[in-house]
Amino acid sequence: MRRIEATQRPVVTIDFENRRIEAMEGDSIAAALLNADVKSLRDTAVKATGRGPYCLMGVCFDCLVEIDSVPNRQACMIPVRHGMKVRRQTGAAKPLPVQPPGHAGTS
Ligand code: FES
Repeated sequence: MRRIEATQRPVVTIDFENRRIEAMEGDSIAAALLNADVKSLRDTAVKATGRGPYCLMGVCFDCLVEIDSVPNRQACMIPVRHGMKVRRQTGAAKPLPVQPPGHAGTS
């Protein structure tokens, strides 16, 4: 995937499985990874088949990744943030721990 025009947005760096990837502020994680030639973001739970972003608008869920140790995040819906750590999601993601009542949550 290539950019179709130059931009003046600041450059940010994310870590994708120990690979440093530069992106433009405002890019989605999926766009940043596609631009860096990363095509497979997760493996299916049953056959471990690689999947990559398809719809890029939050519908297909083929872009699920682990971001800063939180699984099941849609890479196409989340903008890059400098220093974030992104990993491929393999197999069925573990459910998130249940938070006690009154817990503020993480996002
Ligand atoms: S690419 Fe379809 S939900 Fe992200």
